Amino acid sequence: MRITWQGHSCFIIEADGKRVIIDPFLNGNPLAKIKPSEIKVDAVLVTHGHSDHLGDAIEISKANKAPVIGTFELVNYCTERGATGHPMHIGGSYTFPFGRVKLTIAHHGSTTDTGPVGNPCGLIVSMGGKTIYHAGDTGLFSDMALIGEINPIDCALLPIGDNFTMGIEDAIRAVGFLKPAAVVPMHYNTFDMIRQDPEIFRKGLAGKPVDVKVMKPGESIDI
Ligand code: NI
Ligand code: MN
Repeated sequence: MRITWQGHSCFIIEADGKRVIIDPFLNGNPLAKIKPSEIKVDAVLVTHGHSDHLGDAIEISKANKAPVIGTFELVNYCTERGATGHPMHIGGSYTFPFGRVKLTIAHHGSTTDTGPVGNPCGLIVSMGGKTIYHAGDTGLFSDMALIGEINPIDCALLPIGDNFTMGIEDAIRAVGFLKPAAVVPMHYNTFDMIRQDPEIFRKGLAGKPVDVKVMKPGESIDI
């Protein structure tokens, strides 16, 4: 599985010739290295309706005829605006041609320009024999231990920006709950309010059985 970070919470995940994008915030994302028009994907996975996550999902869905996958209310918002979609909800999983997706809880909000669009979620995505957990925007919660126990995680993508989500201290605790083989920090340094030093996150996990991968925007890693 290849994971490419486009800054903030936006990742492109590839395996076995299939490709999905998660939280495609590209227009207006100062860290993104690619334009929405350049994105070629089989699906668009979205954790919640905030503009720094929903981003360019509708445009990318239309251009690729790729479904937006997320919670029922958020997918309805997208399909009402011309996207294709596959609605799911928390606790549910579904096997798509590219792999399996399961929605998890996330403690946060989910609104768009028109108001609330249901609950936010996290994502468990399995492709090419590997499993990632994208936490979305969330505070720390102890059920992360259950998420990690049920779905052995090869790589966890965790927010560290603080203010709107977990900060570094809580993200270090999250790693203890999830027990992933590797962890990538996200949702930091996009804006001043979420400025963080990822090396403090790395140092906080020194000696723990996890591979901390601090990525540069546009960088890819293989897991
Ligand atoms: Ni948010
Ligand atoms: Mn956010």
